[in-house]
Amino acid sequence: MSSALLGLTLSILVQVPWVSGQNFGGSGSTTDGFSWVQPLNTTILGQYGHSPAVYPAPLTTGKGGWEEALAKANAFLMQMTLDEKANFTTGQPGPCVGNTLPIERLGFPGLCLQDGPLAIRVADYSSVFPAGVTIASSWDRNLIYERGFAMGQEFRAKGAQVLLGPVSGPLGRSGYAGRNWEGFAADPYLTGVAMEKSILGIQDAGVQATAKHYIGNEQETQRNPTYNDEGIITFEAVSANIDDRTIHELYLWPFANAVRAGVSSVMCSYNRLNGSQACQNSKAQNGLLKGELGFQGYIQSDWGGTHSGIASVKSGLDMDMPGGLGNYGLINDGHSYFGGNLSIAVNNGTLNESRLDDMVLRILTPYFFLGQDKDFPSVDPSCADLNTFSPRSTWLREWNLTGERSRDVRANHGALIRKQAASSMVLLKNEGNALPLKAPKSIAIFGNAAGDDTQGFYNQVNFEYGSLSVGGGSGTGRLTYMVSPLEAIKTRAAKDNALVQQWLNNTLIATTDVSTLSIPDTPDVCLVFLKTWAEEGADRASLDVDWDGNNVVESVTGFCNNTIVVTQSSGINILPFADNANVTAILAAHYTGQEAGNSIVDVLYGDVNPSGKLPYTIALDSNDYNAPPTTAINTTGIEDWQSWFDEKLEIDYRYFDAHNISVRYEFGYGLSYTTFAITGNITIKAANANARVTALPEDLPVVPGGNPALWETLFEVCATVINNGSTTGETVPQLYLTFPNSTPAGTPPKQLRGFDKFSVTPGQTRDVTFALQRRDISYWDVVLQQWRIPEGDFTVFVGFSSRDLRAAVTLNALSA
Ligand code: NOJ
Repeated sequence: MSSALLGLTLSILVQVPWVSGQNFGGSGSTTDGFSWVQPLNTTILGQYGHSPAVYPAPLTTGKGGWEEALAKANAFLMQMTLDEKANFTTGQPGPCVGNTLPIERLGFPGLCLQDGPLAIRVADYSSVFPAGVTIASSWDRNLIYERGFAMGQEFRAKGAQVLLGPVSGPLGRSGYAGRNWEGFAADPYLTGVAMEKSILGIQDAGVQATAKHYIGNEQETQRNPTYNDEGIITFEAVSANIDDRTIHELYLWPFANAVRAGVSSVMCSYNRLNGSQACQNSKAQNGLLKGELGFQGYIQSDWGGTHSGIASVKSGLDMDMPGGLGNYGLINDGHSYFGGNLSIAVNNGTLNESRLDDMVLRILTPYFFLGQDKDFPSVDPSCADLNTFSPRSTWLREWNLTGERSRDVRANHGALIRKQAASSMVLLKNEGNALPLKAPKSIAIFGNAAGDDTQGFYNQVNFEYGSLSVGGGSGTGRLTYMVSPLEAIKTRAAKDNALVQQWLNNTLIATTDVSTLSIPDTPDVCLVFLKTWAEEGADRASLDVDWDGNNVVESVTGFCNNTIVVTQSSGINILPFADNANVTAILAAHYTGQEAGNSIVDVLYGDVNPSGKLPYTIALDSNDYNAPPTTAINTTGIEDWQSWFDEKLEIDYRYFDAHNISVRYEFGYGLSYTTFAITGNITIKAANANARVTALPEDLPVVPGGNPALWETLFEVCATVINNGSTTGETVPQLYLTFPNSTPAGTPPKQLRGFDKFSVTPGQTRDVTFALQRRDISYWDVVLQQWRIPEGDFTVFVGFSSRDLRAAVTLNALSA
């Protein structure tokens, strides 16, 4: 940007609404010691790394459908003492991963908060579902909802009011991030849809969803501060330094979908954001979430993510989890920054009671809204036995766990998981119709990911032998069974009376001439099962498959010219063997959950036609990726862990497209056993032919999700898909937008703004309609602090991946 323009921008910026704090809808008291802050030095366009102060915390109004529940919450609040209110906002050691105190005299049972995004982790007789990255690969709204609903049913039946998921932070800025698999896709649009559908599913089952981790939690390294032996911080947590436009168009975007879907809670993250702790960042919490997005629920801290009392409360944090100060907040020893400290603060005038009331109301309203005050199951006592986070020895009170122990909540979910995982598998390569298998008589199985899990059903390490169905950390699940690929293949191959041989030791395979491993003749097919571990608390060291998997493939292909590779992975793998002519097929299964082998066999044998699409890009080389995590610093300043998101909007395919870099398999890519085409032209029509589209949205009162005008459908794009192959299959037509030249610099060349998924029989055509909402065709104008539709022509592409665009049409939104 020229300095002249920068100067002009500066003079405009001093009037922008978020600086003056006028547009957040907050009507909280200003008598609590905080004044509006004019952070002029932080608003210089193009500068970031500082976080403006935004006070006070907006009060909940119940708008958007929670009015009746808020009235019930208010009636309840009126009966509470000050101490009860203060205790309401903090965790306590107890049977669940997070617990709030019951108020017996008012019939309130307390809240049980349980991890996590793919299973109720601290429980027995429950299901392990496909991971976020897996279900995102399905690109199937209905399946994402179905998964959320089934998980919600299990949480409810185990007595957990709150599910700590879904995840849209990390979004996937870097493929190395240790928790990408808990989230969905390296794209805000797809992740936004997945958040919305997951939340609707979970909450329709009567359980509160928690959108996490807010915000900028794009790496695990130094996510928390470093403490010395005296408990003094020597290094603060890494600061994710993100500019205003990038926040809006990438990292906040899926949280907006979450709020719009009525999410009950948002969990603030461990990292700092623009130099301020995420859980006491008033701009992020008061400004963006409760103000701009109109969030009506409560913000809870990640475990130990609270670093202050009053400062966090005034910055919008509503609940301190797990509520302990021991071990720097990670042990819930009952000594909370909140709880009794908030009673003191109200009594000595440091905190206005209206803010405490608002915290309580925000926590209680979703509870009433979801009917959790009626017939909600009690906590299963077996959860308490499995809870290593606050074992019974740490409890400060008796929790009367009188309900049935070890309830089996799995219902028919195994069948759903099998279907969901199979529909999410991404077929990356299929030469000479190697797949589906055609009743092979001799099958050789290789790789340490093929067999049974050898390290227990609650893995928290990268174990060598056994199929990998889920990653590690709080996002894991406790398996009750797991069908390995080997077991499923043996069962299936028996129908063909096939010979199945197996070699599961990667070191042996990689270092041996496979033809000497006493295989009499070349098998009809060699199946190689590889895996890649990822876990909370650590970023990945490499984007390769683990356990020398690349050499395993080399070795097998030296012998077998029909080698099919299946990966069970947390996300991106560089696949150097993809060009090897003897590798005839590659199937990315990701983390499938408990039905690993069955879902893989369904696809390998063609009982399910693969329809998954990549939710990220597979580059040709690891070094082709930008924006790696900040993994080391060589200075000693306490603030020195800084991660500058200088790539701005250019993550994943946005980056590869902007720099014209060839990739192995692009975002949105995935093969089927049939083929599809777009027939005829694509057409666009205005949703309201009589109204001219304005560049700026009408200034409507904010509801959950923000200005409702942003969610209005302005245009409908129609295309026709034909199945021109010979098998029935599901297709995922995708819509990408190229913004007009008038859009500010840094706008990615193409951005996903629509997709659908449906089944088409051979020769059949089906129409698809994409609804373009105002937000979809707007960019965030940092000067106006507003979503703005640019002047000029958009190009609207419809195709089958981000680089397989089959038809295009132009759209001038403002003169349409
Ligand atoms: C820390 C993790 O970041 C969060 O996702 C999880 O819900 C809590 N621990 C509780 O286990």
